[in-house]
This record gives sequence, C-alpha cells and structure tokens, in this order.
Amino acid sequence: MLDGAPYMTKRRIFFRNNGLSPIDIIKWWRYQKKLDLKWPQFDNRTVIFTYLGRIGNAMLCKLWHIQSGDEILVPSYNCGSEIDPFLCFGMKAMMYRVDSKLNIDIDDLRKRISKRTKIIYVTHYFGWPQHLADIAIFCEEHHLFLIEDCALSLFSNSSEGPIGRLGDAAIFSFRKTLPVPDGAALVLQSNSMIQSLPETHPAFRTTAKEVAPYIVRWLIHSMQNRALLSNAIFFLDQLFAHNDAQHLQSDNLDMPKDYYFSEHVLPLTISCLSSAILRTIDPEEVFIQRRKNYHQLYEGLADIDTAKPLSGALPEGVCPLLMPLVVPDVFKWQRELRRLGIKAIRWWEGFNKKLDWGEFPEAKKLKNELLVLPVHHYLTSDDINYMIHCLHMTATAQS
Ligand SMILES: Cc1ncc(COP(=O)(O)O)c(C=O)c1O
Repeated sequence: MLDGAPYMTKRRIFFRNNGLSPIDIIKWWRYQKKLDLKWPQFDNRTVIFTYLGRIGNAMLCKLWHIQSGDEILVPSYNCGSEIDPFLCFGMKAMMYRVDSKLNIDIDDLRKRISKRTKIIYVTHYFGWPQHLADIAIFCEEHHLFLIEDCALSLFSNSSEGPIGRLGDAAIFSFRKTLPVPDGAALVLQSNSMIQSLPETHPAFRTTAKEVAPYIVRWLIHSMQNRALLSNAIFFLDQLFAHNDAQHLQSDNLDMPKDYYFSEHVLPLTISCLSSAILRTIDPEEVFIQRRKNYHQLYEGLADIDTAKPLSGALPEGVCPLLMPLVVPDVFKWQRELRRLGIKAIRWWEGFNKKLDWGEFPEAKKLKNELLVLPVHHYLTSDDINYMIHCLHMTATAQS
C-alpha cells in the first residue's frame, strides 16, 4: 500500500497537525485563570510555573544560597542549556560519566565528589527513568541536593511512581512533549518556601514567534491544494539539512546562542496561551498513544540491521519522548529520511563551550551521532507504517 502513495503520506506526516488552530490560539491568547494541573507528578508538591525549564535551575541557585565556587555534578551527556544557569551563578560544573546506553556511572559520580560539591544533577533521557534510589540515599548521607531533570520525561514513571518525586527538586519543560509555545515547571517538596516567584508573562512578540510554526503547520495541513507550499518547505528543509552537513563531524561545534542562559528571563512565567493549552491535555491519552507509536516503530525496525534503537524495548511506565536511533552514517540517514518527509533530528548537536568535554568520548559520540525519530501522540498507526517503510528504503539505499 505504501509504494504507490508515499507523497500524500509524506506531506501528512511532516506537517502532522498538533491541534492548534488559529481560532484556538486567539481564544486562548489572553487566558487568565491560574494554572493548577492535577497531574500525578505534581501531587502534594510545590509547583512553580516558569517560561523555560532552565529558569527553575537558576531559581534553585537562589533558593539554596549557592556561592561562587560551589560545585555541581552534571551528566556528561547534556544539552548544555540546563547546565548554563548554574555556571552563571558562579558554580563549577563537574561532569560525571554517562555511558553509551545513557546509564549513570555511579562509581565515576562518587569519585568526583569534593568538599565543595553542593548539588547532584541527574537527567532522565527520552522518558527512560534513571535508577536513583542509591544516589538519593547517598545525597542524603552527604547533605547534597538532588535535582531531577525531567524535561525529556513528562508523564513517565519509574518503579517508585511518577518521575521527578525522589529528588529535592525537579524541572519539567512542557514544550518538548506538548504543543505549547513555552512553559515549564520547577517542582519542590511541598514544604518549600520560595520568594519572588516569576510573574511576568512573555511579551506578545515572543509568544507570537514561538507559535508561528504551529499556525503554519495548521494552515498547510488544512489546505486542499498544498503541493506547491509543501514542496517549497521541503526544499528549504533540505537546503538546511545540506548546510548542516558542511559543519559536521566537528567536536567543537558551539551550541546555539540562545541555549546560553540570560538573567533577563528570570522573572518570566508561562504564557497565558500555554496555560490554556495545558488544561486541555489528557496525560493518559498522551502516554498511551506515544507508547503505542514507539512499540509499533520498534517492532517495524526489528529486521533492519543497520538502525538500532538505543534504548531497546519499552519498559512499563515509560512515556517515550522520541525514538533514539543508532545508525552508521547519521548525516546520510538524516538527509534521506527528511527527503522522505520524516522529521529525523540529530539530537543535541553542539557543545556548551564552558564545559570540558575531553574526558567524555561516549557523550561526544552521542551528541555527534544520535538520530531521533518522532513518536508523538498526534502520529497515527498509518504514519508509523510509513516511517517504517522509509527506514527500510533508507537502509537498503545505504547498504
Ligand atoms: C534535558 C534538558 N533539560 C532542560 C532543558 C531546558 O529546558 P528549556 O528549554 O525549557 O529551558 C533542556 C532544553 O533543551 C533539556 O534538553
């Protein structure tokens, strides 16, 4: 069924609508009710809504009276934007090893603790929970703060329950998982007191810029005759993918400028629009559909020897953000998949230049070579079948 009709499917999957019509946006733009999400990970916790997840990390530096020269242990595989607030508050970030399967090397972590260590920072990658029981006990014994970064793991669970409830604090970043232009949460134990909460909504033009891609996707998706426009967008996409390929293979690529922390965002809270959209989200629905999509894609990849899911089959409780994939030549695979209309992304390319990456070849390899595929909850079973078909075509072409 797929051979004859890839073009329609290609357009559909690339522009798959994520539910934000211009009418909804206008209706919700000035939404004023206070946000109160009855999600299990926030139950019986102090939840502070922020514009970006990284603001939560900056707030923790203030809350915990961090002094210049205090140390934080951070995972070697990181985006860079989550670490930067700590550096701006004068902390020294010491990286600890995360292996090529994204597991924390606890021995390495312990080795790096010093008298000045104040915080241990752990990241739950792509929805998969880290095993934190030992680390949590260790932190308690040594009077260290534990932060759980749940930016990539909304609605996921570990054997202890929803992710993000074991540490002293957790951060979430909603726009990674949900169709919101901004919005994040800093989650603290329920007895925490925090002064000067972020209260300023982002400026109109900031939200407008973030929401523009949603409107474009909605328009293209809704138009009857969209061949010209969608072709134009594909063309641009491939042009950028091609340009990407020029500066590749570099361990020295800087992360994008706006990943570096700027204190002017500190007073910003979530936009009214994001608050309104979040109230319409059913976590159970998102959880079920993402798991279904991941599972289908995983099964469909079983007979491709060259493309291997990094994290294997889906454990119970995990709400996958994406499918991380290990392929022999990430640039060729990305180019070919994007040509076929699949939004394949090289995840976290670019390095925070304030960190010393020399000791962490596995993390560098992940940053340079990991490809991720969408499994989001707006994709249907047909979309996933089309992706599987494209992955087979790509594997054959590259062999
Ligand atoms: C793991 C992780 N944590 C935190 C952040 C920061 O989130 P935000 O962009 O909402 O500040 C990011 C951003 O990409 C991230 O990848």
